[in-house]
Amino acid sequence: HRDLLGIGQLERHEILFLLDEAEQWVALNRQRSKHVDALAGLTIINAFFENSTRTLLSFEIAGKRLGADVVNMHAAQSSVKKGETLIDTAITLNAMRADAIVIRHGSSGATGLIADKVDCPVLNAGDGQHEHPTQALLDALALRHALRERGEAADDFTGQTIVICGDILHSRVARSNLLCLQALGASVRLCAPPALMPVGIEAMGAEVFHDFDAALDGADVVMMLRLQSERMSGQFIPSAREYHHLYGLTKIRLAKAKTDTLVMHPGPMNRGVEIDSDVADMIDRSIITRQVEMGVAIRMSCLDVLTRRARGVEGWGDAA
Ligand code: CP
Repeated sequence: HRDLLGIGQLERHEILFLLDEAEQWVALNRQRSKHVDALAGLTIINAFFENSTRTLLSFEIAGKRLGADVVNMHAAQSSVKKGETLIDTAITLNAMRADAIVIRHGSSGATGLIADKVDCPVLNAGDGQHEHPTQALLDALALRHALRERGEAADDFTGQTIVICGDILHSRVARSNLLCLQALGASVRLCAPPALMPVGIEAMGAEVFHDFDAALDGADVVMMLRLQSERMSGQFIPSAREYHHLYGLTKIRLAKAKTDTLVMHPGPMNRGVEIDSDVADMIDRSIITRQVEMGVAIRMSCLDVLTRRARGVEGWGDAA
C-alpha cells in the first residue's frame, strides 16, 4: 500500500508488521537521545482540519525523531477559512513536494479523496466517523506490552474478550479498533445506548450490548469512549449524569469484570462522565498513559514503513 487510510485495507500480517517495526521505536523513545536520520531530507506535512492534541503532537514528534522536516497546517489558520476546497488544498500541498501527508478531517472519506490527488503517501489521522487507523495500532501495541508484562505471550489477542463502550455510532476509533482487534484474534463486545449503536453492526462480527454490566462480565479489557457531542445532530443526547449512571466506568462497575481487567481510553477523556478518575488513574489496571506513549512509536513505524519505497529501502511498501 502507498497510503494508510484504514485498518480495513490491512491484512493481519501487515498489522503485525507495523506493530513489530514499532518495537525499535519504543526502545529508542525510552533513551535519552531519541533521534535517528532515517527520514533525513524528507518533508512531512500534518494537515489537521479538526482539533487534536495526541495525534498531531505524536505525528510531529515521530517525524522529527526520524529526522524529517515536519510542518503543521492548522485549518483554522489556513486558506480553508477563505473558501479553498479540500481538493485545491490537497493540490497545493502536493505542489510543495511533501514526502508524506498526514490528514485529520471531519468528513468520512476525506483522506481517501486527498490520497487520489497527491503523489506521496497519505496517512489518515482520523476522518469523520470512518477510521482512525494509527489509534487502533497504538492501542494494539499498548495492549500487547501490558499483556507481555503480565507474562502472557500476546503475539496476538486470541482468547481475549475486549469491551468497547461508549458512543460507537460516531466513533472512528471504535470502527478501527473493532477491525484491528478482530484481525488479531480478540472477541469484541460493543456496548452503547441503542441510539448510539450503528444499525447492523453485528454483521462485523461483534457482540452487541446495551447493558454495560452484562458486557463487562468476564471481560479481559475494557476500552471507554467519550460521547462525541460535536457529531450529534438532532438525535439522542443523554445528560452527563444519566450517561454516567448507565455507562460510566466506576470502580464498583469495574469490579464486575475480572480482578485484573485492563482499562483503556484513546483520549480525550471526560472524567466523571464515561470514566471516573479513580479508574482512569489506577496504576495496576489503567494503560491510558501507555497508549499515549505507544502513539509516538506506532506513528514512527507508519511514517518509516510508508516512506520506504520513496527512500529506496525494501520493506512492506514493496511486499504489499
Ligand atoms: N485519541 C485522539 O485521537 O486524540 P486527539 O483527538 O487528541 O488527537
